[in-house]
Amino acid sequence: MTDKIKVWCFLLFLSRLVSNLQNCAHAAPQVPCFFIFGDSLADSGNNNNLVTAAKANYRPYGIDFPNGTTGRFTNGRTVVDIIGELLGFNQFIPPFATARGRDILVGVNYASGASGIRDESGRQLGDRISLNEQLQNHAATLSRLTQLLGTKQAAENYLNKCLYYVSLGSNDYLNNYFMPSNYTTSRLYTPDQYAKVLIDQYSQQIKLLYHLGARKIALPGLRPIGSIPYSFSTLCRNNVSCVTNINNAVLPFNAGLVLLPNF
Ligand SMILES: *[C@@H]1O[C@H](CO)[C@@H](O)[C@H](O)[C@H]1NC(C)=O
Ligand SMILES: *[C@@H]1O[C@H](CO)[C@@H](O)[C@H](O)[C@H]1NC(C)=O
Ligand SMILES: *[C@@H]1O[C@H](CO)[C@@H](O)[C@H](O)[C@H]1NC(C)=O
Repeated sequence: MTDKIKVWCFLLFLSRLVSNLQNCAHAAPQVPCFFIFGDSLADSGNNNNLVTAAKANYRPYGIDFPNGTTGRFTNGRTVVDIIGELLGFNQFIPPFATARGRDILVGVNYASGASGIRDESGRQLGDRISLNEQLQNHAATLSRLTQLLGTKQAAENYLNKCLYYVSLGSNDYLNNYFMPSNYTTSRLYTPDQYAKVLIDQYSQQIKLLYHLGARKIALPGLRPIGSIPYSFSTLCRNNVSCVTNINNAVLPFNAGLVLLPNF
């Protein structure tokens, strides 16, 4: 990966980032704009009008969110909502699905529940906006910014100053590799090989984001996703060694992510 790019890989260091940011929570925004690429952990309403089981625009989702139900897959704020607040934004970053006009100047949230690094991940749930499509949507944002700011150069200069948060991969495991009745990946690849295939594709996608003007990119690693209730009860049917298998499978992905700046 080109040495000009500042890739901020933080694996499980999110809490440290958050505590650093807390010191400046009430200052002016640390960056003029914040762009978000991700899955249900960051989605703020992009799936609301898609034909999919991966939707959260009904109660009790949002019961603790200031605006109630929005499509966020949580009772309250998402991690990117909280990071946005800690960066000093006085509004939530708008979802791509509803951002209009000058809304995009603060950034856009492209995240889509069930989406992955691979286009097919999450397919059995219905429509979703894969990372490749999220990047296409960002190219559309670049065109809109060019219209707002006058020239492509002005738009790129503006995008250079933004913070980018890119967090995908969970669905490439839970809604792909560990769902052998719907996907072939676990027959094609060992966990180590699969992690490499994912990281290779991710690095190409991050390079495209760089070419679209991104310079400050945060790439969180995957959490122990075998231990979430869905994995434990549905995928593993309470089998603890299955949970351990999933948690172990994401470790080489996280290790590859740390090496990503050297690609
Ligand atoms: C929340 O509601 C307020 C007032 O009703 C509105 O101005 C704001 O845009 C809404 N924010 C979101 C994220 O929907
Ligand atoms: C996923 O696999 C299950 C079990 O084999 C099957 O019933 C279902 O139709 C598959 N779903 C899709 C979308 O292929
Ligand atoms: C539990 O999961 C492990 C690893 O996936 C598997 O080898 C084993 O057969 C499972 N045990 C039962 C009782 O299903």
